[in-house]
Amino acid sequence: MTDLNPQAKQMADASMVRTLDAQARAIWPQEVELIRRYALPDDIHILDAGCGTGEGSSRLAELFPRATVLAVDILDRHLELARSRFGRLAPRLTFEHRSVFDLGVPDRTYDLTVCRHVIHSIPLPDQVLAELARVTRRGGRLHLIPEDYGMLHFQRGALDPREFWHEVLDRFGRATETDLFVGRTAFRILVRLGLENITVDYVVVDTVRVSREIFAAIIEAWRDGYAEATAAYSRFTREQAVAYFDHMIANIRDPHGYAVWMVPVVSARVP
Ligand SMILES: C[S@@+](CC[C@H](N)C(=O)[O-])C[C@H]1O[C@@H](n2cnc3c(N)ncnc32)[C@H](O)[C@@H]1O
Repeated sequence: MTDLNPQAKQMADASMVRTLDAQARAIWPQEVELIRRYALPDDIHILDAGCGTGEGSSRLAELFPRATVLAVDILDRHLELARSRFGRLAPRLTFEHRSVFDLGVPDRTYDLTVCRHVIHSIPLPDQVLAELARVTRRGGRLHLIPEDYGMLHFQRGALDPREFWHEVLDRFGRATETDLFVGRTAFRILVRLGLENITVDYVVVDTVRVSREIFAAIIEAWRDGYAEATAAYSRFTREQAVAYFDHMIANIRDPHGYAVWMVPVVSARVP
């Protein structure tokens, strides 16, 4: 039977809190400009599906100062942390235990439905996107960050990170029944769902646009949370996986080095 939360262990690891913090600091400054393009009024209803520790939810609540934001996740530890960090935004911003597979809210409720960094980590992304479209109002927007691990590029040295990603992504994806390239698959799913005005943009997390320390913090947190799992699902040992991650981190920290993570931001209007 398909495990609907194959990354439960990694999501609950302390390193994930660091991952989500660093990712938001790297991505949000460019992402917010894409959200502004939707030209939404500020008194809207927003859903943040798979909210984690509330990095995106809190930024959305601040961006739309009269909006209500319902942020949902299935990991109570993240929800508790989010509530304690962002109490100042209550009751406009609330955190609830709900699954993106079955949100249990009425059809056509939200003007803006956001799902950041979730659908690469769970199976059946088409079912999740259908559920998100169901709860979005006519004329409302889906705003997604569907990750794509084929869009990470580092420089070669003693190690070649391309070999690492090539090996790990294929085996990890197959073992967990997840699409680690869902950034490029999301478009097709949204077309099939009959959504309109689909846009695909990129937040460019690179060593020119983002501080090297923030970018390095992302890969350090991935290393700490995922080295074991990547070893379990590849020909690499844990030590070798750590060495590849350390190579990527050194590439980012090298003042003459260049590395880039292209982060797809996909949106669509619900007809
Ligand atoms: C990588 S985190 C992203 C968190 C947040 N969206 C952000 O941008 O910081 C993915 C989150 O999806 C959550 N998740 C996984 N399966 C879920 C489900 N079925 N329903 C709701 N959340 C889920 C995980 O618990 C985790 O908190």
